[in-house]
Amino acid sequence: PTARLTIDPQFSVGPINRRVFGSFVEHLGRCVYDGIYEPGHPTADEEGFRQDVIDLVKELGVSTIRYPGGNFVSGFRWEDSVGPRAERPRRLDLAWHSTETNEIGLHEFASWLDKVDSELMLAVNLGTRGPLEALDLLEYSNIAGGSALADQRIANGRTDAFGVKMWCLGNEMDGPWQLGHRSADDYGKIASQTAKAMRQLDPSVELVVCGSSSAHMPTFGEWERVVLTHTYDDVDYISCHAYYEEKNGDLGSFLASAVDMDHFIETVVATADHVKAVVGSDKTIDISFDEWNVWYIERFHNVDKIDGIDNWPVAPRLLEDVYSVADAVVFGSLMISLLKHADRVTSASLAQLVNVIAPIMTEPGGPAWRQATFFPFALTSQLATGKALEVRLDAPTYETEVYGVVPLVDAVATHDAETGRAAVFLVNRSQGEPISVTIDVSALGEITVLDAQTLADDDVYAKNTLDEPERVALRANDSAELAEGQLTLVLPAVSWTAVSLG
Ligand code: AHR
Repeated sequence: PTARLTIDPQFSVGPINRRVFGSFVEHLGRCVYDGIYEPGHPTADEEGFRQDVIDLVKELGVSTIRYPGGNFVSGFRWEDSVGPRAERPRRLDLAWHSTETNEIGLHEFASWLDKVDSELMLAVNLGTRGPLEALDLLEYSNIAGGSALADQRIANGRTDAFGVKMWCLGNEMDGPWQLGHRSADDYGKIASQTAKAMRQLDPSVELVVCGSSSAHMPTFGEWERVVLTHTYDDVDYISCHAYYEEKNGDLGSFLASAVDMDHFIETVVATADHVKAVVGSDKTIDISFDEWNVWYIERFHNVDKIDGIDNWPVAPRLLEDVYSVADAVVFGSLMISLLKHADRVTSASLAQLVNVIAPIMTEPGGPAWRQATFFPFALTSQLATGKALEVRLDAPTYETEVYGVVPLVDAVATHDAETGRAAVFLVNRSQGEPISVTIDVSALGEITVLDAQTLADDDVYAKNTLDEPERVALRANDSAELAEGQLTLVLPAVSWTAVSLG
């Protein structure tokens, strides 16, 4: 089979906001403790942060990092995590049935973010708390000094304000599992009050209101409409969360997961624009896709889940999914979906970063390594600069059980007018056959192929593990050729590819 596409800098979707390459660190399992932080590890720095993990996070190229949850934040008291460490309380984290020692808190995490060159995105607790506590955290974080909480921050060792711009108004408040779960109406009201109060204190903050925790929630669509009706003037973004997994051995549908993500984004955009019309606003609400990944949720429910009134472990092994080539191909296609909607998805967070459904894994006292999903993220973050381009794609299709007939190939391109560089990201969902692609790049003018890298394997379930940490890797795609404005290359079955042009 063959596919054709055309790349033209005039077919712009919109500029790519670097915040689309964000990630997420939750106090969950071994993400923080025994993940980014392990005093005593041979590579630990003076603050106890693993240098090998810092190096991998930098290589991954993450922009903004959402913190500290997730479900965790809905029971979190931020005051517990600041001040002298010896005085910080140990708390029961009801979301993950664990003990939170509060050894790492806002100050320590901000210091770690400086080391990985990333921006902080904070979530406030609107599950068990409200506007007052959100205001307190904002004052503590963003006021220079001269008020009780700002001075407390200074006394705790941080002279400069943290200057946090991005704030999430709670987490997944549509989910019945969420501590303090509310109806759309109740949540919309408290989110609006909190947002207004926060802006009174710091008008420069950018606020994300909770959308649906999946496009398959029974309240999806109506939740967005009601919540945005309450908050339209108060917020800048509405969130989307989506996780995909192969179910019942149906690899064909799993490979088409991005079809669902496209639909999710487009439906939320339509709903937000509907509310815009109804409230008569000039402002456009963007999407913060602040949790997305492949996640074997069924495994969590069947294997990982912790219970027992006397059983609250510290940093247990939770959600430690090991990703295959097929998972990474789907993951790469989800990144294609985000870029295809760059005009409205202007913030996104890969959930999560280390050990917990993560591109980076660690062993206590041992190595850190890249999961298969590391590669599409790192390369897309590196190459996708400037603006996203719509590609005119003509590809064969296949039938899936879940999504009906879908294209075998999906793709997006990017073009950076400043550097003259372009990139194309492609996925081949065919399980049986390679696909030859011809890309008309004549509109880019004089251009050459700088590099072409493909993720594929004869065993689509091959994985990187502690014992074999480099089993899966990107390989140069030597089939890429460019002549007379036509770029041709072969996409192996079940593969993700990035081509860099310049
Ligand atoms: O990322 C894991 C969990 O998934 C988060 O805590 C929650 O927000 C979502 O349900």
